[in-house]
Amino acid sequence: MFTDIEDKVVVITGAGSGLGADMAQAFGKSKAKVVLNVRSSNHDEVVKKSIQTIKDAGGEAIQVQGNVTKEEDMAHLVEETVKQFGTLDIFINNAGYEQPIPTHEMSLKDWQKVTDINLTGAFLGSQAAIKQFLSEDKKGVIINISSVHDTIPWPNYVSYAASKGGVKLMMETMSMEYAQHGIRINNISPGAIMTERTSEKFEDPETREETLKMIPAREIGEPHHISNTALFLASDLASYIHGTTIYVDGGMTNYPAFMGGKG
Ligand code: BGC
Repeated sequence: MFTDIEDKVVVITGAGSGLGADMAQAFGKSKAKVVLNVRSSNHDEVVKKSIQTIKDAGGEAIQVQGNVTKEEDMAHLVEETVKQFGTLDIFINNAGYEQPIPTHEMSLKDWQKVTDINLTGAFLGSQAAIKQFLSEDKKGVIINISSVHDTIPWPNYVSYAASKGGVKLMMETMSMEYAQHGIRINNISPGAIMTERTSEKFEDPETREETLKMIPAREIGEPHHISNTALFLASDLASYIHGTTIYVDGGMTNYPAFMGGKG
């Protein structure tokens, strides 16, 4: 659909499952050269399958292991990408983590685990990508997978909401710094999306019902809703979009409690 994605070199962090795995396939099917970053070898089987599917669809793909919270790993990820594919066009900060703990019970270690992956990880990934874009004088693209909780508070998830709120202002600030170089930096903020991880809660009838009440479109989203938005943002059709957040959430951020017309 987006023909200019063909042959583009795209790095996706956290590509071993969920939204990351789906985006890897979506870019691969558009014949991009995909670098699937995963932290550990736990996801090896899924990643191997993804790489095969991408190759079958006419794309190219490799796996590069690395921890988004480590500066040297993110530098290595970009280095390896350029070594294999000659350049870097698109970097997607997708790796994320969430853990419900009431604030008064949250240890510093709990807090840091989430903020390190979600916020520091996106910082290090973006920084490594920007350095590469500047060295090649390339109009590269960075997409962060944030969350509706970059704007909606989420009780028991203070580290998650704070990290995603941070990602929003980080993206806006970086975009302002590098827009003049033609580097486009934007966020996609998913709402309730069905993945391996969320299926447990969304398949529970009570939780599903409660969640659907928060979504004007009255449906749980699918990974392809996010992947399609990522393809669009990465493509030339989005060439004038800088420093923006696209909420892909069935309207969740649009005050659904007011749907009845009261108040
Ligand atoms: C979280 C999901 C949650 C959704 C809506 C996402 O950022 O990862 O677990 O269901 O926000 O609350």
